[in-house]
Amino acid sequence: MTTQTINTVDRETQLLRDELLEGLRRPQKTLPSKYFYDEIGSTLFEDICTLKEYYPTRTEIGIMRDNIEQITRQLGRRCLLIEYGAGASVKIRLLLDHMRSIAGYVPIDISGEHLLAAAGELRREYPSLHIFPIPADYTQDFELPEIDVPHDRRVVFFPGSTIGNFTPAQAAEFLAHIAEVVGEDGGLLIGVDRKKDAATLEAAYNDDRGVTADFNLNMLVRLNREFDGDFDLDTFRHRAVYNGAEGRIEMHLLSKREQVAHVAGEQFTFRSGESILTEYSYKYHPEEFAHLAAPYFTVEKVWTDARALFSVQYLSAR
Ligand code: TRP
Repeated sequence: MTTQTINTVDRETQLLRDELLEGLRRPQKTLPSKYFYDEIGSTLFEDICTLKEYYPTRTEIGIMRDNIEQITRQLGRRCLLIEYGAGASVKIRLLLDHMRSIAGYVPIDISGEHLLAAAGELRREYPSLHIFPIPADYTQDFELPEIDVPHDRRVVFFPGSTIGNFTPAQAAEFLAHIAEVVGEDGGLLIGVDRKKDAATLEAAYNDDRGVTADFNLNMLVRLNREFDGDFDLDTFRHRAVYNGAEGRIEMHLLSKREQVAHVAGEQFTFRSGESILTEYSYKYHPEEFAHLAAPYFTVEKVWTDARALFSVQYLSAR
């Protein structure tokens, strides 16, 4: 590594440390949800996507399959497709298989190793596709570098209802950022989970096999390993509840007893039953989402499934 890359890594680690300590000092302790996605977390998340309780992934894929001709027509010709939070997903393959004249594909992900592995696989499967993987934390100030390939328009692909993991205010800010990235004539193809009965929602985030629990607890594993933490994993448990008034799933790590834990040189006390909030997952009626996006985007099309569980939407920049 050059001196410069070492400094950059140090600065990033410093930022992460400040961010996590700031969250743990609050009355309602919180941890930033991007912490989920280290190597192990990214793999656990792929497992979540295949769980019987976790309807969003297969429903979104079903919607895309059923409407793929219409969807790719919306994307238009010579489009530069930019994916935020790129996984190893079948969703991008669905698009790539049906797009006639894609200019290039730009996957962006916080987990660098995961991203490069996935991009390598795509390169083998689509040898003529121009791929520009960008390892980055898009929740921080993030500017897309110049992509050196001719294209007529830019479309951001943001599947998985990841937009729901922002608060509505953050989501609006993020949509503003995307509008800037895609520019005039640009678009956004986005997956948005819909409001529905609490039982279905809570089951999706509390699977029988405990994969979601492992995924949530992996936050603490990471703090122990990367920030010199001493969280006792057996004394915390996963809990996800639907807050109907706010329209969101809330994921917590509950302390099973009164205790003290250390991380990054600081001490934190927990009451019995006290929680660390690790993530929100907001759910939107299509009208609510259109309203949220309205300052930056016009909703052109909403595709949904027969049970109205999930939505895939195409929006054009205003
Ligand atoms: N964005 C998706 C959702 O909110 C996927 C997701 C993010 C998720 N973090 C999660 C799923 C934690 C389960 C648990 O549903």
